[in-house]
Amino acid sequence: MLDSIDQSEGEVNFSPRRKVWADKNHGVEAQDLIQRDSDVFVHQSVSTPCMSAIRKAEGIYIEDLQGRRYMDFHGNNVHHIGYGHPRLKAAIAQQMEDLPFAPRRFTCEPAVELAEKIAAIAPGELSKVLFTTGGSDAVEVALKLARAKTGRFKTLSFWDAFHGAGFGAASVGGEQLFRAGLIGPLLPGAEHVAPFACYRCPYGHKVDSTGQPDLDACQMACAKMVRYVLEKERDVAALVAEPARAVPYLPPRGFWNAVRDVCDEFGTLLIFDEIPTGLGKTGRMFACDHDDVEPDILVMGKALGGGILPIASVICRADLNVGGEYAFGHYTHEKNPVTARAALTTIEIIEDEDLVENARSVGEFALERLADLRDRHAVIGDVRGRGLLIGVELVLDPAEKTPANGLAEEILYRAMDRGLSFKITMGNVLTLTPALITTREEMARAIEILDECLSEV
Ligand SMILES: Cc1ncc(COP(=O)(O)O)c(C=O)c1O
Repeated sequence: MLDSIDQSEGEVNFSPRRKVWADKNHGVEAQDLIQRDSDVFVHQSVSTPCMSAIRKAEGIYIEDLQGRRYMDFHGNNVHHIGYGHPRLKAAIAQQMEDLPFAPRRFTCEPAVELAEKIAAIAPGELSKVLFTTGGSDAVEVALKLARAKTGRFKTLSFWDAFHGAGFGAASVGGEQLFRAGLIGPLLPGAEHVAPFACYRCPYGHKVDSTGQPDLDACQMACAKMVRYVLEKERDVAALVAEPARAVPYLPPRGFWNAVRDVCDEFGTLLIFDEIPTGLGKTGRMFACDHDDVEPDILVMGKALGGGILPIASVICRADLNVGGEYAFGHYTHEKNPVTARAALTTIEIIEDEDLVENARSVGEFALERLADLRDRHAVIGDVRGRGLLIGVELVLDPAEKTPANGLAEEILYRAMDRGLSFKITMGNVLTLTPALITTREEMARAIEILDECLSEV
């Protein structure tokens, strides 16, 4: 059954190509560690058994047990400031000296300072904050806030989206991998529509040779379908979505304005999941800044802990602060001073080192180079991205757009052999999400590696 499940989240660990690559590359020490890991951890298709083992993570690089270094163009989107940033490590160490924990019912300076900072950088009027340990939990909190504010329970979200592994998050997620089979019923009222995906428009509309949709022809059918569902249901609490999908797919211009309007019309709150895209990945502080659309609730995580500590945050408008007598989630580490300090320092580093601008300009450079690659390699069907959220979609034939899944995996392992790691989404999209500190030279080298691999296959 697993062979038929969509590979939306990443390449799976039971592929024969993975085995061939592993047999060729792992020394005795790595083999032993991967086996011990496999013996002790619960197996799941996109993590354990693992592809490889590492002993170091520094800057944009990870290093395996044999000392081979890889530019990490995946990094789970946690490594915006690079792995092991010295300023972050020093701030964490100092905070552990000053105040290592704050039990529930006690506040502390770093937690308050972080909440104030997040309110300052978040879009528009978002101002009330709650911290969790991970992104999935933050999505659960967002869903609860939306229910409390609206008195409704239904949600609308997109097929193929990922919002986390918890029951609420998996219910609004649209990935087979997290929904199918074994785990039984999900949340009631969690409805889905087809997502925006111009290159493979679910409503059958075409794009031009540069991948741009003809909005006169399609009339933005994807936004119209959101209207259709909200109008039929009329009692949907929230629409949950990534403003730019990390697959990656970008919304057609005007999509979010249309959806914001229809949400307002039917009293549905808009929740943006910016867990991978927030804090500069797309070349603006938040992906929704590109569209000038403000959500009612925004969720961020991943890079917030600077690639060292786990912390996520929900931020909402002040008028959603309506459940003071209840409890949405006073998580054990809600006001942990060390994770809060890590997040605060991470945001300061992003600002002080001008990393959002670097993501914008290196991303622009990458898209130019990749467009050149697309002109030279017929197997590249589409190149799309914003900032350092970039997708290169491989197809067997440009007209039919048959996904080149096997080829994508082949390119991945060949790139790994040359020192470049990235992830594959949807089976055939080379997904490049490097750290925000990545330089033009490093990006040029990564694209050169892809060029070499594409030429070989
Ligand atoms: C869009 C999106 N939402 C939510 C999550 C869940 O975050 P976490 O793994 O921290 O629970 C992820 C993680 O990959 C994500 O990409």
